[in-house]
Amino acid sequence: MKPRLLIFTMAIGLVITTSAQAAISGSDHDFSGQAWSGGTICQPCHAPHDGPNASSLGLLWNHEVPSYANYTLYEGATSNDGFAGLDRDSQACMSCHDGSIALDSFGGTTNGTQFIGASKQIGAGTGDLSNDHPIGAVAVYDVTSTSLTPDPKANGVRIRSMTVAGQAESVVSCASCHSVHNKASLPQLLRVTNSGSQLCLACHVK
Ligand code: HEC
Ligand code: HEC
Ligand code: HEC
Ligand code: HEC
Repeated sequence: MKPRLLIFTMAIGLVITTSAQAAISGSDHDFSGQAWSGGTICQPCHAPHDGPNASSLGLLWNHEVPSYANYTLYEGATSNDGFAGLDRDSQACMSCHDGSIALDSFGGTTNGTQFIGASKQIGAGTGDLSNDHPIGAVAVYDVTSTSLTPDPKANGVRIRSMTVAGQAESVVSCASCHSVHNKASLPQLLRVTNSGSQLCLACHVK
């Protein structure tokens, strides 16, 4: 490799390494400083082996999950296919944001004692997401079209789409708007900045 190219490659490597460290490390989802976490970042959510909900949820999921028969979704729609009415990634968020399952209930521990603060709870303890943005089975959109409202490709921003188990449609998820690993290092773990409502305009043509 030519020296100049080598230096350039090293510089790129440094940028990538630095931004990777700025991501989850030190963010709201870095619990490694909490006594209950065992000092690791990933473990409260994922396990390399034997995660208690890895078979049912995927994601090598290591956290306990709420056990509702149904979530109540936007405008009161009850997901007709039970727990599966919520996309998988949103179910994973509800592991902690529902407020009914302790943060330290992971790795097979089910009787944790540390709970998420009230101001960060979504659908607190009842599975009621009726006053939240439509997600899961009631927020279906076509990611292949460019002429739809909401248009997931408007403004050149590609918003992540998910599927609800057993259904082919793409849906809006907690993870469409938020980056759980804080990849973009934005406030509120947002995936796209909401300055000037850019996040909203990424889907809604207004
Ligand atoms: C607070 C919980 C939480 C923590 C901590 C966490 N993750 Fe995740 N992770 C999730 C959720 C939820 C998803 C699925 C949603 C998504 O991908 O945005 C996910 C998805 C993933 C995926 C698959 C999709 C992708 O983004 O590639 C990988 C790989 C992953 N995490 C690795 C890690 C590693 C490695 C760590 C530790 C450095 C970590 N995660 C820490 C919750 C977490
Ligand atoms: C292991 C438990 C856990 C999981 C799983 C988890 N979170 Fe969190 N999250 C927390 C805690 C605890 C906080 C609050 C930290 C604090 O109070 O500083 C938080 C904070 C946040 C914040 C920041 C709130 C703010 O005011 O800035 C957002 C946004 C968020 N989480 C979204 C998500 C999404 C979306 C998912 C799923 C993709 C998810 N979380 C999964 C535990 C979790
Ligand atoms: C359509 C985009 C979108 C979706 C979907 C979404 N959020 Fe948010 N979320 C936001 C925005 C934007 C904010 C910042 C709100 C503010 O500043 O008032 C936010 C704020 C939050 C906060 C900070 C506390 C609060 O209430 O302000 C948490 C925690 C959170 N979201 C978790 C979640 C979880 C869990 C889900 C899935 C059940 C979810 N979000 C789905 C856009 C979204
Ligand atoms: C990931 C794509 C996406 C993002 C980002 C997004 N939305 Fe939505 N939004 C949807 C979908 C899909 C629906 C459900 C539309 C439907 O069922 O007709 C929806 C529904 C709504 C509705 C209710 C419309 C109705 O007819 O009841 C409002 C209001 C809304 N969004 C506002 C916002 C705001 C404000 C933001 C920014 C914080 C935002 N949205 C971000 C995709 C998105």
